[in-house]
Amino acid sequence: MSEPLLRVKDLTKAFPIRGGLLQRQVGSIHAVDGVDFQIDAGETLGLVGESGCGKSTTGRCVLRLIEPSSGEVTFDGKNVLALSGDEMRALRRDIQIIFQDPYASLNPRMTVAAIIGEALIIHGLAKTKQQFDERIAELLEIVGLKADHMSRYPHEFSGGQRQRIGIARALAVEPKLIVCDEPVSALDVSIQAQVINLLEDLQQRFAIAYLFIAHDLSVVEHISRRVAVMYLGRIVETAPSRALYAAPKHPYTEALLSAVPIPDPKVKRQRIRLAGEVPSPANPPSGCHFHTRCPIAEARCSQEAPKLKQSADGHWVACHLR
Ligand SMILES: Nc1ncnc2c1ncn2[C@@H]1O[C@H](COP(=O)(O)OP(=O)(O)OP(=O)(O)O)[C@@H](O)[C@H]1O
Ligand SMILES: [Mg+2]
Repeated sequence: MSEPLLRVKDLTKAFPIRGGLLQRQVGSIHAVDGVDFQIDAGETLGLVGESGCGKSTTGRCVLRLIEPSSGEVTFDGKNVLALSGDEMRALRRDIQIIFQDPYASLNPRMTVAAIIGEALIIHGLAKTKQQFDERIAELLEIVGLKADHMSRYPHEFSGGQRQRIGIARALAVEPKLIVCDEPVSALDVSIQAQVINLLEDLQQRFAIAYLFIAHDLSVVEHISRRVAVMYLGRIVETAPSRALYAAPKHPYTEALLSAVPIPDPKVKRQRIRLAGEVPSPANPPSGCHFHTRCPIAEARCSQEAPKLKQSADGHWVACHLR
């Protein structure tokens, strides 16, 4: 077995909660609570869960945009959390991120060329103005925009086009992994498929791996080889896509999946409505975090946190009852 491109082990991130006059720490938000996953070169792992379950924090910890509280992140054999500032800057060439909001993530005062080309300059990848312009033109064409868009500003583009600019910026440094943090959630449904298709084409063409974050299972179904489902800071189920969608095992995954529309009107799926809201990660439920909303929970579930165990080939579930 060859080493995976990215291996994340027992990752945790607790944000301090401060209060009172002196802003002392009065508690912690357990945003990520012991997460394990790996991604092979050129493959996509979908990371799915409701708002606030720790998906973005997980993705940002991989790039150290947020410093993890504990755990291990290994990329290409390197211990990412032990890298010095210079080494980390070099690694930022290999790992890029695309953000959810294509309006907030592009500096409105910079031209498209400056936005896409920033990293080319930082990493010394364009020696002359001509090389720079040629590369920007090439990148714009790769993402389906026109070379003469390079001197325009972000406000001149639609949401989908802006997201393409964000993708071109990520591609500029030829990364091996892109953390896609809900890259289509802010876009019209009709545009979402185009952007996902573009990301799939780019993966084929450049063998890029994706950590693809979404809050909806339907978004990641086709693009992901494997999917991990997160609930309150923990991965509760992970499996090859086909197995997860055909036969989900965790009651939370079942509930998420029951909300996904099926294109065939003959197939009926019963909608499972979960009781209540996601509990606060500042004060997560004991035992299995999901037990307060779980339709099949038993006494044990509130006492003991279930570990992920393998049930079928590559299908892992953290549930006492499945
Ligand atoms: N910088 C921060 N300081 C304090 N708390 C934070 C910070 N960033 C995130 N959190 C908290 O950590 C938890 C996980 O947040 P995170 O953004 O990772 O969730 P998410 O799954 O990406 O949600 P969404 O689907 O809304 O993007 C939330 O309770 C959030 O409020
Ligand atoms: Mg998020």
